[in-house]
Amino acid sequence: MGRRTWCTLTVWALTAWTGAVIGSAGPMDQQTTNDGIYTRAQADGAKAQFDAVCAQCHAFKVALKKQANDLPLGDEPFFKKWEGRALDELVTLIVMTMPNDGSAVVNDEEALNLLAYVLQQNGFQAGASPLTKEGAAAVIARPKT
Ligand code: HEC
Repeated sequence: MGRRTWCTLTVWALTAWTGAVIGSAGPMDQQTTNDGIYTRAQADGAKAQFDAVCAQCHAFKVALKKQANDLPLGDEPFFKKWEGRALDELVTLIVMTMPNDGSAVVNDEEALNLLAYVLQQNGFQAGASPLTKEGAAAVIARPKT
């Protein structure tokens, strides 16, 4: 191994190490959907919109699907697919693509409120402050039973 290779390796190792240290919010500090990241009032407030705009295609349990190709927002395989991913991804997905008829009627704030309702319906505990754009950095976990 030449000197240049060693040099490159050292820089690479240092970069990786520094990145690990600086980037270490750590699993302990990473909020998840189990940390009370929405309020009950927020979820309750979104129920009417969910029922009007989303419920026709989205149940929360596979057993409660109304049509064969409904995609439940809970249960399996929903959590298998989304566990470990940021709630933010769902905010974006909802704002950009739901309802999926191109009407694009949901803004960021409504998407956050709708997600609060989705969390509530999945049995996640509510907390003291509503779900915000910042709070949506939280990672999706399976609800604690
Ligand atoms: C007419 C049916 C329909 C309506 C109404 C609808 N969706 Fe969807 N939704 C879908 C389909 C189909 C998918 C799968 C992805 C796709 O085809 O766009 C999906 C995907 C999703 C996903 C991702 C689910 C996953 O497992 O990947 C979320 C979250 C979601 N919708 C939320 C909503 C919300 C919130 C509303 C109401 C604002 C809504 N949807 C309204 C049909 C619908």
